[in-house]
Amino acid sequence: MAKVKSAFFCQNCGAQSPKWIGKCPSCGEWNTYVEEVIQQEAKPTINAFTAAADKPTLISEITSGSTPRITMPDKELNRVLGDGLVPGSLTLFGGEPGIGKSTLLLQIALAVKNLRVLYISGEESQEQLNMRAKRIGIKNQECYILTETLIQNIFQQAEAVKPQLLVIDSIQTLYTGQIDSAPGSISQIRQCTADLMRYAKTTQVPVFIIGHITKDGSIAGPKVLEHMVDTVLQFEGDTHHLYRLLRTTKNRFGSTNELGIYEMTGGGLREVSNPSEVLITAREEPVSGVAIAAITEGARPLLIETQALVSSAVYGTPQRSSTGYDLRRLSMMLAVLEKRCGFRLGAKDVFLNIAGGIKVEDPATDLAIVTAILSSSEEIPVSPKFCFAAEIGLSGEIRPVNRIEQRISEAEKMGFEQIFISRYNKKSIPEKTAIKVVTVGKMEEFFGKVFG
Ligand code: TYD
Ligand code: MG
Repeated sequence: MAKVKSAFFCQNCGAQSPKWIGKCPSCGEWNTYVEEVIQQEAKPTINAFTAAADKPTLISEITSGSTPRITMPDKELNRVLGDGLVPGSLTLFGGEPGIGKSTLLLQIALAVKNLRVLYISGEESQEQLNMRAKRIGIKNQECYILTETLIQNIFQQAEAVKPQLLVIDSIQTLYTGQIDSAPGSISQIRQCTADLMRYAKTTQVPVFIIGHITKDGSIAGPKVLEHMVDTVLQFEGDTHHLYRLLRTTKNRFGSTNELGIYEMTGGGLREVSNPSEVLITAREEPVSGVAIAAITEGARPLLIETQALVSSAVYGTPQRSSTGYDLRRLSMMLAVLEKRCGFRLGAKDVFLNIAGGIKVEDPATDLAIVTAILSSSEEIPVSPKFCFAAEIGLSGEIRPVNRIEQRISEAEKMGFEQIFISRYNKKSIPEKTAIKVVTVGKMEEFFGKVFG
């Protein structure tokens, strides 16, 4: 009987060690080593495809652009991929359970035209997949479904079907016969991803992989998974909210920080092509504590609603809570208002919320946040025809932000009448605008202009 050999793998970076160690020498994390069984005898590699022998070529002699990108049926996906799918690329879709990863990929598999798709599921049976496909309601004659978890079998089937797009529903369920450890373990994930990578690169078939996410938001398994693939897309959003955001966190073929927006409906995911319309609540009358921010997500301008509620603290220590916006940044805004503008908010509870369940990181949200807080605190509604785009510095100055033309034109398109921006952005304002552009330099000046 072959002796079982085991090794220890760092759960964070995937480094290997023959013994358990407390601190990983390669990434410096503590207590991340876990024992896994590995095969002692090297089995012959059972790959159903053969790699063509490559020789070194001068970079100037490589002909590029011979294989054009594949345009996906889904505009949002095209955007996050960076204008279409690159042949032979490996794309990882991460996201929490129940967010809609399987739905999205099955929907794409069904919607692509003139492409033979092989959808491998290790999580659901063929009947279950068929039920889901019926729910989505798109028919595709060239979409093959296979429930399989052994990677060698998958390659064998792929050899027979010759797909032009391969979808793997969850890398955590796959395993290779070459390694003895359980599916989902580090060494299995690493080996299966490496095999899929080799498959993609040699056959030029694009591969989509679904990856589970852990409690703390990282993709389950080692970071090596993210290092190995070409593109990492995160599917996020609150399962209680309708909207789902598809974010690029890594992209070898395009820009990161792109954003795709979907809405979960009874019949699958629907693309949201005009997000500003859905993220802003249509109101009859102005209410206090609401201000609209003109932000950008990647290259995409978006108008979002920021809401604040300021009330007297019932308990000794005032509460500060924030959803969708950095809490530390909120504290900073409150300190600026207190120190530079003389508003007494120290004894008040402040609650902040970004409507629609989205998270913003764009500093251009600052001005809208401050406006919403003051509007709530003073009980003065802000005109629903105003929007804001500027960062606020610690000295209370209103600072410029990038892509101001795009923000202005989006606000104009959405029918806003005034946009408040920094004085230092003046140079980049387009000459003729239907919207009134108000430039401000200091907070004091700003309040006069907004609240009159
Ligand atoms: P699913 O794709 O199974 O999530 P994941 O693969 O990321 O774990 O999505 C599951 C959720 O989506 C489930 O809670 C039900 C919901 N859903 C709809 O609302 N409408 C639909 O048409 C489908 C297929 C799913
Ligand atoms: Mg799933």
